[in-house]
Amino acid sequence: KPETITPTAYDIVYDFAPESLRGAKVLVTGSSKGIGEQMAYHYARFGAKIVITARSKDTLQKVVEKCLSLGAQEAFYIAADMSNESDLDRVVDFALKKLGGLDYLVLNHIGSTRIAMWDGDVEHAKWLMKINFFSYIQMAWKALPSLEKNKGSLVIVSSLAGKMPSPLTAPYVSTKSALNGFFGSLRHELAMKKSNVSISVCTLGLIDTETAMSKVKGKVNMPAYPATEAALNIIITGATRQPELFYPWFTYIWTLTKDWIPSFTDYVVQRSYNYNFICLTHTTIHSMT
Ligand SMILES: *[C@@H]1O[C@H](CO)[C@@H](O)[C@H](O)[C@H]1NC(C)=O
Ligand SMILES: *[C@@H]1O[C@H](CO)[C@@H](O)[C@H](O)[C@H]1NC(C)=O
Repeated sequence: KPETITPTAYDIVYDFAPESLRGAKVLVTGSSKGIGEQMAYHYARFGAKIVITARSKDTLQKVVEKCLSLGAQEAFYIAADMSNESDLDRVVDFALKKLGGLDYLVLNHIGSTRIAMWDGDVEHAKWLMKINFFSYIQMAWKALPSLEKNKGSLVIVSSLAGKMPSPLTAPYVSTKSALNGFFGSLRHELAMKKSNVSISVCTLGLIDTETAMSKVKGKVNMPAYPATEAALNIIITGATRQPELFYPWFTYIWTLTKDWIPSFTDYVVQRSYNYNFICLTHTTIHSMT
């Protein structure tokens, strides 16, 4: 039995037509769990044709089965490693071939990082940049001709971290800022070329995925918002060709206050993290090794 979809204020504001997604050809990355998995289920309920990808074949297989039971017209998976450049092209080629083109490319995957003081680990920052940033620009470029032909959309799942720096996540913040910068530039270029492709950049706050919750536990004092609602909002943003999404709504307020009242923003941001807890766990890890 399909789960119910909660309508949001967004549907009303942007006049979202769910039937526009029936038969839509969609590739979602990072879709074996978390927000990506929920996006796959929403697209399935709307009757889309979906390709999902992540590293774990077993998990992908289960998600594909659920997508088909929820109403996806077609659903395929391809296991791939987003840090491997040849895998990136392989995934896009697979989707183009299986679906006969693409209407939506939803880039959502992220590499694993920890919440900790910057410790000079440049190799980790490079690795994370490869997964969270360089793979996005490579896949977007590869899919662009088909999106152009189909008047399609490129959907980038970013974060409040792409709009304003926060402590203890310097490599992550760097990758998300790079995404916002790059796809902001590309949006201008597409508009200047009168391109058929829309770009949506999604600014998300803390979302209650298993991975995020396990990382922030005891360290971060911030409310977490439901992954399924975040996923639906991302899909509607792409379908209505909006340039930006702010979810939850107060992420928009932060992007304003960081420039208008920076000292207030700094005060709140620095107090959103349990400094003592983080230092304590860090010391414990080091003394155990
Ligand atoms: C990268 O992926 C290709 C297939 O797409 C594979 O042949 C190769 O072994 C992978 N490289 C690494 C380092 O995993
Ligand atoms: C947009 O799509 C139309 C056909 O749907 C095509 O004629 C046109 O060339 C496309 N624009 C670009 C920039 O490719």
